[in-house]
Amino acid sequence: MSRITTRGLRTKKRKGEKITMMTAYDHLFARIVDQAGVDIILVGDSLGNVVQGRETTLAVTLDEMIYHTSIVSRSTQNAMVVADMPFMSFQVSPEDALRNAGRVMKESNAQAVKLEGGVPMAETISKLTTAGIPVMGHVGLTPQSVHQLGGYRVQGKKEKAAERLISDACAVQGAGAFAVVLECVPAELSARIAAKLKIPTIGIGAGVHCDGQVLVLYDLLGLTGRETPKFVKRYAELGSAAAEALGLFVDEVRSGDYPGDEHSY
Ligand code: KIV
Repeated sequence: MSRITTRGLRTKKRKGEKITMMTAYDHLFARIVDQAGVDIILVGDSLGNVVQGRETTLAVTLDEMIYHTSIVSRSTQNAMVVADMPFMSFQVSPEDALRNAGRVMKESNAQAVKLEGGVPMAETISKLTTAGIPVMGHVGLTPQSVHQLGGYRVQGKKEKAAERLISDACAVQGAGAFAVVLECVPAELSARIAAKLKIPTIGIGAGVHCDGQVLVLYDLLGLTGRETPKFVKRYAELGSAAAEALGLFVDEVRSGDYPGDEHSY
């Protein structure tokens, strides 16, 4: 089976079929996500939080993104693999962004890159798409700007901010992006943006009217110890299941119940 393409995603939007996107960072989970039928696997710089245990995504490097994305690419067959461009790998200049995105595409086998920012990033997105690199935009709450935004908060609540966000989404589309993530945006505003754009909108904390939905895998699986934001639905509680299993292992090794005869040669 061949991977889903940017054209396939646009067709889904036209037909009103919802798009699914999920993060993954390693071989085992990438395989599970791919086999579950998810359309797009995002190797997000959220790996800074959930893999590296950092407070923000700012310290994630280009080499780390390439490392994780190449693992996810070779572990999957069906989903489109999108690599996040980390902080300062694309903001310095469009030329620098092209060089770095080129490295991601050549060294990780991703099918596309994602980068944060609206109107100010239009020239950069255009540079990349002109060179043949598919770009997914990301507007609304852009975690790489957390210090500028004053925290992880809902964006576009007032009309002026909403209009700015609509301009951001339009600029991303105008620059040639094939899809755009809307993060932490009121549902009604997402509906306006989704109706206005020809490219698919993929929401996270952006309500049901987006053309697709994305979540951070470890949040959805209930693996993160941290409190999850309101928009996360925990479809499982694997963190507590793992803690319970490990507790049993510790008890049984200490009591001599493990390994039993059936585990011994
Ligand atoms: O880094 C990431 O995982 C993301 C998603 C939350 C959209 O950007």
